[in-house]
Amino acid sequence: MLVGGQGTRLRPLTISAPKPMLPAAGVPFVAHQLARARAAGVDHVVLATSYRAEMFEAYFGDGSAVGLDLEYVTEDVPLGTGGGLRNVADRLRSDDVVVFNGDILDGHDIASQVKRHRDAGAAVTLYLTRVSDPRAFGCVLIDSAERVLAFKEKDPNPTTDLINAGCYVFRRDVLLSAIEPGQVVSVERQTFPALLASGAVVQAFVDDGYWLDLGTPAAFVQGSSDLVLGRIDSPALPGSPGEFLALPGSRIDPGAVVDGGSTIGAGATVAAGATVRQSVVFDDARIGEGATLTRTALGRGAEVGAGTVLEDVVVGDGARIGAGIELRAGARVFPGAVLEDGAVRFSSDRF
Ligand code: GTP
Repeated sequence: MLVGGQGTRLRPLTISAPKPMLPAAGVPFVAHQLARARAAGVDHVVLATSYRAEMFEAYFGDGSAVGLDLEYVTEDVPLGTGGGLRNVADRLRSDDVVVFNGDILDGHDIASQVKRHRDAGAAVTLYLTRVSDPRAFGCVLIDSAERVLAFKEKDPNPTTDLINAGCYVFRRDVLLSAIEPGQVVSVERQTFPALLASGAVVQAFVDDGYWLDLGTPAAFVQGSSDLVLGRIDSPALPGSPGEFLALPGSRIDPGAVVDGGSTIGAGATVAAGATVRQSVVFDDARIGEGATLTRTALGRGAEVGAGTVLEDVVVGDGARIGAGIELRAGARVFPGAVLEDGAVRFSSDRF
């Protein structure tokens, strides 16, 4: 599992924690992936870490609590997706290795992907999904037998809607020979095209089920909400699917409205008259009376004053947003920042 990225698009949330450790539906996002891998029959996982590496082991330890044998290998200098993979190769125990990008939420059938890989005698088998706008992704052209014909990175005029969905099955011997050790390598841009050019069998596994790249704030809050609502099943969801998830120790005033798959973290409070929709409220955050949060991520210990409106906003840990403030449209408040009452509004209403 590749979890070494900086998660720059999710700043400032990723200043204090790597993207895969951000809480989605009450647990670190990567816990959902680990649980899905385990449900598919995986029993040993190596986490390829780099940025904030220590946080993974501090939470998951040897993996016994999640039913897995977990190991950690840290790159002092990030080696990219291919280099990171090559760097853990000596820890991999089976002939076929499933590689997960640590920021994808999906429901594809991992066991069937492995079977496809073996049946095809492939060097590597890529999970592909369809998206309505493939321009920002790595597109993959395939034939009728789902053999890969070509890779097209971020093509402005794509001729396919199939994209690389971020989960591969590699033959371990291929991984060892195709990626130079100790180098910065992109598996998507370098290794896959090189394998194809060398005549290796590069197979696809197309699955049109749920798929979301949690790389941006909007996708992160959507993914967390979808998990809470049960739009995507996760064995790691702490509780049953529903309109919201309130972690133990949170307090929601009976006069508040919390819905749309929102999560209220441990020790967090939501005051009377507040509305929290499709949002992720981290542990120990506080939402004041009559405040409204929509599609917003509120960092650990952050505070929101009375009557404040936050829509499509990311608030860093420990920030204090006063009363009567209005932030919208992707605004990012950095950790520890203080906005005085009424300091910023998007509309001309007076506080
Ligand atoms: P952005 O900075 O917002 O693009 O996020 P990111 O750093 O996570 O990059 P990206 O989304 O392209 O990475 C895809 C997956 O590969 C994520 O799970 C990353 O954690 C992981 N990843 C990216 N670069 C490295 C790396 O150098 N080493 C390791 N081990 N993993 C990486």
